[in-house]
Amino acid sequence: MSDNPASPILLFDSGVGGLTVYDALRKVLPEAPVIYAADLAGLPYGSKTESQIAARVAGLLGRMAERFRPRLVCIACNTASTIALGMVRDVLELPVVGTVPAIKPAAALTQTGTIGLVGTEATIRQAYVDELEAQFANGKRLLRVAAPGLVAAAEAKLRGQAVDPALIDDVRDRLTAMPGGPDIDALVLACTHFPLLGEELAAAFGSDVRQVDGAAGIARRIAHLLEGQEFAAQGPNRFIVTGPLAGAEGLEAALASRGFGPAEVF
Ligand code: DGL
Repeated sequence: MSDNPASPILLFDSGVGGLTVYDALRKVLPEAPVIYAADLAGLPYGSKTESQIAARVAGLLGRMAERFRPRLVCIACNTASTIALGMVRDVLELPVVGTVPAIKPAAALTQTGTIGLVGTEATIRQAYVDELEAQFANGKRLLRVAAPGLVAAAEAKLRGQAVDPALIDDVRDRLTAMPGGPDIDALVLACTHFPLLGEELAAAFGSDVRQVDGAAGIARRIAHLLEGQEFAAQGPNRFIVTGPLAGAEGLEAALASRGFGPAEVF
């Protein structure tokens, strides 16, 4: 338990996807100081190997925890969490909250029993996802597709660029072409970037397909773990990037509207 009210919550992702968790967190803990770290030098994680992701995430979070002294770390990235959550918990002496595909809530709301899951290439092949499926979607059909193009599209959208609807249509078409695909009525957004494309996904899939992500649940979990702690921010929240500052170009409006100061280099 932190006795320093200025100690931040550290939110970590490969890019801007974790801002979907940040937005949910600010609704439940508006006063909490937050440092958001985007590993832009490592983006995208989805095309990397398990060992590359685990080494990178554990190494960076170890160094960030030393520098920023957070009270809690949230890995706001499904790819990193499904691969490296256990390892990060072993190396940090801090509460660590992960982000795992929201299969449980999707299974609770599907009427047809057919759930779609969109994630990165690395996430959809994880045993962690097989375990969530066996535990929560037993007797239901879970259809998985990788959609690496949507990570880049979400990054671009937050920088004010247009999203090519063909990218989203392709994801829908690949899911629909799978056996049982036309019955999908719940879509797990198993990458924190994807809720940033909620409108585009709704346009492609239609309003009968419910989009399900874990952001609100993660925010509640963080609030629960920090219950009773005091918060005293000493300035605006910080947005930190790995690699050159130029990687954050175009994000100024998205950051300012969320109460961040200007991007900084780690
Ligand atoms: N935002 C990430 C996730 O939740 C990863 C995107 C990427 O770096 O490929 O999976």
